[in-house]
Amino acid sequence: MSVAVKKDFEQPKDFKFSKENMVKVELHIAKYPKGRQASAVMALLTLAQEQHDGWIPEAAMEEIARILDMPRVKVFEVATFYTMYNLSPKGKHHIQFCTTTPCWLAGSAEVVRACEKHLGIHLGETTPDGEFHLSDVECLGACVNAPVFQHNGDDFYEDLTPENVVKVLDDMKAGKARPGSQTGRVTSMSIKGATTLHDQAKKAGVKENS
Ligand code: FES
Repeated sequence: MSVAVKKDFEQPKDFKFSKENMVKVELHIAKYPKGRQASAVMALLTLAQEQHDGWIPEAAMEEIARILDMPRVKVFEVATFYTMYNLSPKGKHHIQFCTTTPCWLAGSAEVVRACEKHLGIHLGETTPDGEFHLSDVECLGACVNAPVFQHNGDDFYEDLTPENVVKVLDDMKAGKARPGSQTGRVTSMSIKGATTLHDQAKKAGVKENS
């Protein structure tokens, strides 16, 4: 899903990387052969987003095009293709729900509905206080702990239910939410606890040394 550039907010006139981030910019560019500096475009977009409160203004894309000596439209193409880049403000907490098949089968639709009801907004909207923005994205690669959401592009909240997700949102606002499984599961171990092939064989009636 591409991200449309919205116009109902102010775009800053200028963007410059901080001194600290300019050091990182140079390091990223140095990873590629001379003349191939455009390959650093994704890393620079990520840096710009981190520096600018979680979204990339048009001025930042222009600055990146200038630094990498590439057409502005090429930077725009990359930034609008990936859902990990935000081209408009997404609130203090950007919640990206995975709604792809494994998460959907595990109940993501109910989890999304519970969040929408709790916050009084729909997917694609931001709460009036600017605290939360809800989005849906494709598979986040954590299907074994479905349903999941990603917070501010970094942390995963997993094993969500319509009940525990509401508590997660409240805890997040209070600054005490903890990423990972919300049912106490250790990483992605079996829901029914640890098992071994030996146990499974025993259950299946396989005799020892057979
Ligand atoms: S389907 Fe949701 S993480 Fe893969």
